Amino acid sequence: MGIISLLIRQFIYTSLVLLPCLLCVNSTDSPSPPSPSPDFNLTFGDQKLSVVYPIIQRFRNTITADPFKITKTWVGTDICNKYKGFFCDTPPDNSSAKALVAIDFNGFQLAAPTLDGFIDQLPDLAIFHAPTTFLALFH
Ligand SMILES: *[C@@H]1O[C@H](CO)[C@@H](O)[C@H](O)[C@H]1NC(C)=O
Ligand SMILES: *[C@@H]1O[C@H](CO)[C@@H](O)[C@H](O)[C@H]1NC(C)=O
Repeated sequence: MGIISLLIRQFIYTSLVLLPCLLCVNSTDSPSPPSPSPDFNLTFGDQKLSVVYPIIQRFRNTITADPFKITKTWVGTDICNKYKGFFCDTPPDNSSAKALVAIDFNGFQLAAPTLDGFIDQLPDLAIFHAPTTFLALFH
């Protein structure tokens, strides 16, 4: 009977250990977007641009209106030259670096539910310009 109670205790112990783990795998699996698969091996002109890249891509996925297909240019690693509305320059803290310093969505008629997690996450951004019609589409 000592062995049986030991086995039962062992079983309960492993269930208690494994159960929360299964729950946590399930719960973290569903809400996370399919992000880090094809993009992990991209090479950027500057380390600063590799930091802003996933932030831009995440924002791109939240765009709800894009009548001029602006976000079609928001692909690949050449953020400074290919991405419409994004502008790079040398940041004040490092004269040899290249950073995303300005965004101008004026005239693009883009709409997104929120800017949270976008402009507030861009470390070198000095200018964000969007028309009032764009901002009015939030909320
Ligand atoms: C990453 O990209 C480089 C250059 O394009 C390539 O040589 C390398 O094989 C790639 N690595 C992986 C893991 O895909
Ligand atoms: C300045 O930027 C260059 C290019 O990204 C980088 O290699 C270097 O480490 C940076 N220097 C400092 C002090 O951050």
